[in-house]
Amino acid sequence: MARDFRDAAAKVARMVIRVCLAGATGWAGSELARSIAKTADLALVAAVSRTHAGRNLGDVLAEPRLTCPVYASAKDALARSCDVFVEYTKPDSAKTNTVAALERGAHVVIGTSGLTEADYAELDLMARNRQRGVLACGNFALTVVLLQKFAETAARLIPQWEIIDYAHDDKVDAPSGTARELAARLSKVRHPEPTIPVDRIVGPREARGATLSGIQVHSVRLPGYVIGAEVVFGMPDQRLTIRHDSGNSARPYVDGALLAIRNVATLVGVHRGLDTVLDL
Ligand SMILES: NC(=O)c1ccc[n+]([C@@H]2O[C@H](COP(=O)([O-])OP(=O)(O)OC[C@H]3O[C@@H](n4cnc5c(N)ncnc54)[C@H](OP(=O)(O)O)[C@@H]3O)[C@@H](O)[C@H]2O)c1
Repeated sequence: MARDFRDAAAKVARMVIRVCLAGATGWAGSELARSIAKTADLALVAAVSRTHAGRNLGDVLAEPRLTCPVYASAKDALARSCDVFVEYTKPDSAKTNTVAALERGAHVVIGTSGLTEADYAELDLMARNRQRGVLACGNFALTVVLLQKFAETAARLIPQWEIIDYAHDDKVDAPSGTARELAARLSKVRHPEPTIPVDRIVGPREARGATLSGIQVHSVRLPGYVIGAEVVFGMPDQRLTIRHDSGNSARPYVDGALLAIRNVATLVGVHRGLDTVLDL
């Protein structure tokens, strides 16, 4: 009996996914860390934040259930063995951190926005060579996953559309990860056919926004916005707008991030969007 119990306990212990979280003290990362503390199947084994390096994450976040150390860099944190590395820092460190994690044999969930298509192509090659999964989600919110799905359906039927991304004035990257991901996905359905091609417009080229994956993307950065994205589809005498908006808390991103952490090990190579691991 005692042996059965020990075997079962050992099995459960083996099933716990060990997570290293870069950006654990940030707006999005701290909400995720607190939620991981409440789960039975995930354990935070290391965290990354330059400001709080050397401290215990539980003390920093006032969450006694978190007992892992905080390191100044992903490289230092990855010295502790983990199954999944979560990247939630800033665009300028996201790629280096992901490379370090893949080198250490971890699967990676990327929440950070700002990586380019070229970055993802490079990471894809590296992940495939190492038989590791990378799940990159510019936005983990369920409403964004649905926006992506609905927009893909509309793009099959309506030949012209543009993307507008809205964010707070101090968001450093533009377009947002959500907008980049949307453009990349919709371009796989087809490329829009503008009546006047962008290179033939009269006036400043910038007025037509950035061209991403063949799609016009406009980024608004103003106080008063949090994060939002919309796709506007236009046809003669009719228009369809599909829009997502999120509020001030990081709560909408937690469930999607947990789902990504739990499922990334089933993947090989880079995959974009949470629907990769959702049955939609
Ligand atoms: N996928 C999604 O659903 C989703 C949702 C929300 C946000 N995001 C994206 O996630 C990223 C983080 O957003 P946030 O609002 O949480 O930012 P934030 O509040 O500024 O937090 C950034 C975190 O990363 C750490 N960090 C920053 N630069 C670092 C570096 N070079 N090395 C190590 N740690 C570093 C910060 O700690 P220190 O400064 O102490 O190092 C902090 O813990 C952004 O790209 C944002 O667009 C994505």
